[in-house]
Amino acid sequence: MSDKAAVEEVAMTGAKPTFGAKLKAHFKKWWWAHLIVFCAVVLIIALPLVYVGYPNIAQGDINDSTLTVESMVITDPTPDGFQLNQKQVIGSGSIFHPKIYSFDADVSLQGSPAFATVTVPEVQARDDAAVHVEQWVDLTDADQFAAFSTAVMMNEEFNLGVYGEPDLKLGALPKIDVTYNKTVTMKGLNKLKGFKIKSLRFDSDREDGNNAHGTVFIPNPSVLQLSMGNITLDISSNGTALGQSFLNDLVLNPGDNNVPMLSNLSNSKLFDIIGDLPAGAPTIPLTIVGKSSVYDGKEIPYFTAALKANELVVDLNILEVI
Ligand SMILES: *[C@@H]1O[C@H](CO)[C@@H](O)[C@H](O)[C@H]1NC(C)=O
Ligand SMILES: *[C@@H]1O[C@H](CO)[C@@H](O)[C@H](O)[C@H]1NC(C)=O
Ligand SMILES: *[C@@H]1O[C@H](CO)[C@@H](O)[C@H](O)[C@H]1NC(C)=O
Ligand SMILES: *[C@@H]1O[C@H](CO)[C@@H](O)[C@H](O)[C@H]1NC(C)=O
Ligand SMILES: *[C@@H]1O[C@H](CO)[C@@H](O)[C@H](O)[C@H]1NC(C)=O
Repeated sequence: MSDKAAVEEVAMTGAKPTFGAKLKAHFKKWWWAHLIVFCAVVLIIALPLVYVGYPNIAQGDINDSTLTVESMVITDPTPDGFQLNQKQVIGSGSIFHPKIYSFDADVSLQGSPAFATVTVPEVQARDDAAVHVEQWVDLTDADQFAAFSTAVMMNEEFNLGVYGEPDLKLGALPKIDVTYNKTVTMKGLNKLKGFKIKSLRFDSDREDGNNAHGTVFIPNPSVLQLSMGNITLDISSNGTALGQSFLNDLVLNPGDNNVPMLSNLSNSKLFDIIGDLPAGAPTIPLTIVGKSSVYDGKEIPYFTAALKANELVVDLNILEVI
């Protein structure tokens, strides 16, 4: 029997069409309606995923990411700005690794208004994504930066606030914007705790107007490297001004710093104090306060403010150092 005959026979017997055949006929007639419904369902699921779920997940991942500043180098300070070279790591435990586009970040002492805007370069998120910022920073608020510098000088730790609204893109998904608002806790200079005069030698025949030179020890527990220029320090003992000391071209590196110092101290006042010392106690209490930071002939108000805020009290053992 041929196929054709079989079909005719079925039709002739008047048997109902099979379920499969009905379905086929239905789809043949209504395919467009099904396509519309299918597309609508896909869109109803996909659109919220793309436009609600994805931004939420992305923002959540940004919220959960960490920011660690590994080094911060400030050079060429002027009253209005400085050159910044900063290395940091953005850490994320997320399985998504979106691209975060370059964005402008407002930087502040957390809780205070921003002192500058820094351009963060584009970064591909990973477990640990290195971000290197190297640029000239114009201070938008020099007073805020003076307050920031003072907080860095005076505290064991300080909080750096970083705020921006970068665009972000994950694979083929659309570009969205997220809020980047991070607080980074960093080690400060902690009042230069541990500052010491390591040596002080008097030499009366110097031609630069000073009468002593020596070395000071300045510990720097932070990751900051600061070019602070020519530093002038006021030296006194128990209320009597003795003169000044100078740290020229001071670059404060992270870790231990041994810095040459020039001094212009009043011999007569110093000898008066030494003469008054009780027998067997060869220690002069010295008070050292920063007076100014001058770089390329210009006073740098934010470094001056930080130095002025920090009054150092050291015991100068004249038998050890002189
Ligand atoms: C991200 O953090 C901000 C502020 O802390 C909060 O308002 C927002 O709900 C967080 N977003 C997500 C998706 O976790
Ligand atoms: C950023 O977060 C800090 C606290 O972590 C909050 O005080 C501040 O208001 C936030 N900034 C913005 C613009 O949301
Ligand atoms: C040293 O101190 C004396 C007296 O205070 C002052 O006249 C002189 O200018 C000072 N020299 C320098 C280099 O500061
Ligand atoms: C500091 O000065 C006060 C009075 O001016 C005096 O009584 C005291 O003994 C001085 N202390 C030292 C360590 O010289
Ligand atoms: C510090 O002072 C010396 C001598 O006056 C000068 O040659 C040098 O350029 C100054 N350094 C800075 C960073 O301004």
